[in-house]
Amino acid sequence: MNTLILYDTLYGHNFELGNFIYQTILPSAIFLSFKEALQVKLDSIDLLILCPCTYGEGQLTASEEKFYNYLCQCQFSVPRLVYYIAGVGDKNFGPAKFANAVNIFDRQLRQHAASPLASSLKIDYEDLPTAQQTVTDEITNFLRKGRDSNY
Ligand SMILES: Cc1cc2nc3c(=O)[nH]c(=O)nc-3n(C[C@H](O)[C@H](O)[C@H](O)COP(=O)(O)O)c2cc1C
Repeated sequence: MNTLILYDTLYGHNFELGNFIYQTILPSAIFLSFKEALQVKLDSIDLLILCPCTYGEGQLTASEEKFYNYLCQCQFSVPRLVYYIAGVGDKNFGPAKFANAVNIFDRQLRQHAASPLASSLKIDYEDLPTAQQTVTDEITNFLRKGRDSNY
């Protein structure tokens, strides 16, 4: 299975989350920042994991926006692609803006007929240690189901 994990970060939380997933759950994945994402052909990827950060007023960062535009411009549907989005933000920005990058990418990937492996997760930066357990459970359940169905 070809897996791509993408993160963007200024203060380190989304890097920490992406790196945690890479190191502890999916060590054979490709682990890149959104800046480097366009080097990879999405049609070669089976599982896409995004750890996007939210800046401005519930907006994407410049590098995330480039990847988002790439997704928008692609006239493809990717029914084979499974994805999971877990992004760290700050609850103090209010419910509409909190980790809104998660919603933006979720909407876009669904439009391309990609399938979520579990509901996307918005994480307050103060809750990152506990959220890592949820992320681990969701991804390992998905991997276990895939392994079981191969027997
Ligand atoms: C200028 C600025 C704007 C921000 N806007 C939002 C926002 O709209 N929603 C949100 O959830 N967090 C917002 N944040 C908080 C960051 O998303 C939060 O600090 C998060 O931990 C950053 O991820 P990182 O540690 O990976 O850089 C903002 C932070 C800054 C500095």
